[in-house]
Amino acid sequence: MAQILKVAMPKGRIYNKAAELFRSAGLPIPPEGEASRKLVIPLPEAGMEFILAKPVDVPTYVEYGAADIGIVGKDVLLEEDRDVYELLDLGIARCRMSIIGLPNWEPGIHQRVATKYPNVASRYFREQGQQVEVIKLNGSIELAPLIGLAERIVDMVETGQTLRENGLVEQLSIFEITSRLVANRVSYRMKNTEIQQLCDRLQAVIAQPSL
Ligand code: PRP
Repeated sequence: MAQILKVAMPKGRIYNKAAELFRSAGLPIPPEGEASRKLVIPLPEAGMEFILAKPVDVPTYVEYGAADIGIVGKDVLLEEDRDVYELLDLGIARCRMSIIGLPNWEPGIHQRVATKYPNVASRYFREQGQQVEVIKLNGSIELAPLIGLAERIVDMVETGQTLRENGLVEQLSIFEITSRLVANRVSYRMKNTEIQQLCDRLQAVIAQPSL
């Protein structure tokens, strides 16, 4: 008998794109999704149960096996460094992680960089041989250079609208980011048939040029 897959889904902007991808792959996912406040959504017809988690927590649920699989941005995977098995690049929520500054930015002696991704940013500047102080923020990162908290930021750019509206300049794109399907290492063995079937169905959709 097929086993139910526990799927950690990211609440917020990726949820609808991920649910749509599952639907395109032929899985009956009801439209209401996040509209309800329920955090655990049984989907017996799809052979799944959704766990609605904060995106940054998805790899944690998967690493500990509270979820068998999960959908998470590559940005979170790079930052969190969790022990999960990355199965598929889903090609959704495409954006980039960039270094951003004011148009008149010049390197000073003591450089400060604000970001939601302190591990990624510290690693990047260390590898570049650049000494910077990294300041962790939790959102609205673009504020930091505007009000003098840091000269630059490392943040996500999708449409570029936030940068344009705040007069900031993208200096360098350091990573291309998309959402990934990840699996718990034990679940990958114990529920291999179900996970592999899902991967095959998703891969067939991802391969279509219309996506
Ligand atoms: C993200 C990101 C940028 C913005 C980029 O923020 O941190 O601020 O989106 O998108 P754009 O290039 O299309 O303008 P989010 O809306 O997730 O909120 P946050 O600032 O609280 O992190």
